[in-house]
Amino acid sequence: MRVVMVGTGYVGLVSGVCFSDFGHDVVCVDKDEKKIEMLDAGGIPIFEPGLDVLVSKNVKSKRLSFTSDLSEAMKNADAVFIGVGTPSRRGDGYADLSYVYAATEEIAQNIAASDAPFTVVVTKSTVPVGTGDEVEAIIAKHVDPSRFAVVSNPEFLREGSAITDFKRPDRVVVGTENEKARAVMRAIYRPLFINETPILFTTRRTSELIKYAGNAFLATKITFINEMADLCEAVGANVQEVARGIGLDKRIGSKFLHAGPGYGGSCFPKDTLALTRTANEHNSPVTIVQAVIDANNQRKSNMADKIMRTITAHHGGGDVSGKTIAILGLAFKPNTDDMRDAPSLTIIPRLIEAGAKIRAYDPESMKEAKPLLPDIEYLDNAYTCLEGADAVVIITEWDEFRALNMTRVKALLSAPILVDLRNIYRPETMKAHGFTYSNIGRPV
Ligand code: UDX
Repeated sequence: MRVVMVGTGYVGLVSGVCFSDFGHDVVCVDKDEKKIEMLDAGGIPIFEPGLDVLVSKNVKSKRLSFTSDLSEAMKNADAVFIGVGTPSRRGDGYADLSYVYAATEEIAQNIAASDAPFTVVVTKSTVPVGTGDEVEAIIAKHVDPSRFAVVSNPEFLREGSAITDFKRPDRVVVGTENEKARAVMRAIYRPLFINETPILFTTRRTSELIKYAGNAFLATKITFINEMADLCEAVGANVQEVARGIGLDKRIGSKFLHAGPGYGGSCFPKDTLALTRTANEHNSPVTIVQAVIDANNQRKSNMADKIMRTITAHHGGGDVSGKTIAILGLAFKPNTDDMRDAPSLTIIPRLIEAGAKIRAYDPESMKEAKPLLPDIEYLDNAYTCLEGADAVVIITEWDEFRALNMTRVKALLSAPILVDLRNIYRPETMKAHGFTYSNIGRPV
C-alpha cells in the first residue's frame, strides 16, 4: 500500500513510521520545513523510545520518506492519513480543527488535480463526532464522491510506549460504511492480523466517539482511584491494596488504577474537555466526565498543599517560605519530554507562591519545562538537585528515581523529608531510613 501521513507530530510521526515498518510505502508530510530537514538528517523532533531506530531502518530500506510537498507525496497514494494536531481552543475548550480542515482542503485539491480513481482519506487525529462529515463535505466541493471516502481511524497509543501500542494494539477501530475503503484499511492493517488483533468496523461517527469515550473512561478510572486514595488516607486504608482488590474483578480490570498526582498529558485533559463540549452542544451532558475534569484539576492543586503540610508537620509548624524544595520529575509521566498539562505545572507555581525556592531535575523534559517554569533552578542530575534542599518531592516516576541511594539522599538534604507522589518507595523502608515520608493513599 502507498500511504501518506499529513502531520509529523506525535501521532502522525509514530503512525507513519510504524506503517512503513509494516512494509507499506509511506511519505510523511509536514508544512514545517525545518522539521522535514531535521527528519531527513536523521533527527527525531519528539522523544519516543525506539523511534529513531525504526526511522533509520525504514528510511534505509526506502519505504519511508519525508517531504513538505503534499502533491508530490500524494501521487498514487491509496490512503492519505490526517495526523495533525487538534489542541484545545483557547477560551472555550472545543477541539481546534483548523489544522484538520486546512489539511483537508489541500488534500481535496490534490485529489481533484490527480487522476487517482479512488483515494481513502483517514482522520487519525482525535476529532469530535461529526468532523468526518465536515471533512467529506470539504472534499466533495472539489471531487466527485465516487472518487474518495472519508474514514475515521482513531489512535490509542501512549507516549513512551507508542511503538508497542501501535504494533500490538488491543484493537483497531475503523469507521466507514464504504466497502472499498474498508478493503484498503484491511490491507493497511493486515500485518496485525497475525497477532489476531480485533479490527472493529463501525460507522464513522461511532468510531469518532469511541476514541473520546475510551479516553474519558480511563481518565475516570484514574480519578476514581485518586479519590479512593484520599479516602484511604482519611480512614487509614491502603489504596494499592484497594486497587488490587477491585482490579482482580475482571469486570473492573487492574490497569489504570495507579493513584497519583492527577492525570496530565496531551490527550486526557484535552479530550475530556472536548467531550463535555460536544455533549453539551447536543443537549446530552456527560456529568461524570465534567466531575472527573473538576476533581483532577483540584487534585493537582491539592498536591501542593500535601507537600506543604508534610514539610510544616516535620518542623512542628511554620510554613514553606524561604525553604528550598527539590523536585524530581517534571514531565506528565516517565519516558516522555512532554510537559502538556503536567501536574508539576500546577504544583510548582503554588509552592513558589507560598515563598519556596525550587530546584528541579527531569531526565528529558527540562528543555520543554524551562519556558513554562522559568523561576526555578534546573540541575543536571537527581543527586545534585537535592544538595541543601529542605525536602524532596517525586512528581514523575522515572526509573532512575526508583532506586535512589537513601543514605546519600539523606546526607544531601538539610531535612530528611520525602514526598512521593507516585508511591515508588515503601513507607517501612523510608521509616527505617529515618525519613518523614508522605505518599498517596498508603498508611505511613
Ligand atoms: C493516553 C491514552 O492511554 C492513549 O490510549 C491515548 O491515545 C492518549 O492518551 P498518554 O497520555 O500518552 O496516553 O499516557 P497514559 O500512560 O495513558 O497516562 C496519562 C496520564 O494518566 C499520565 O499523567 C499518567 O501519569 C496518569 N496515570 C495513568 C495515572 O495517574 N494512573 C494510572 O494508573 C495511569
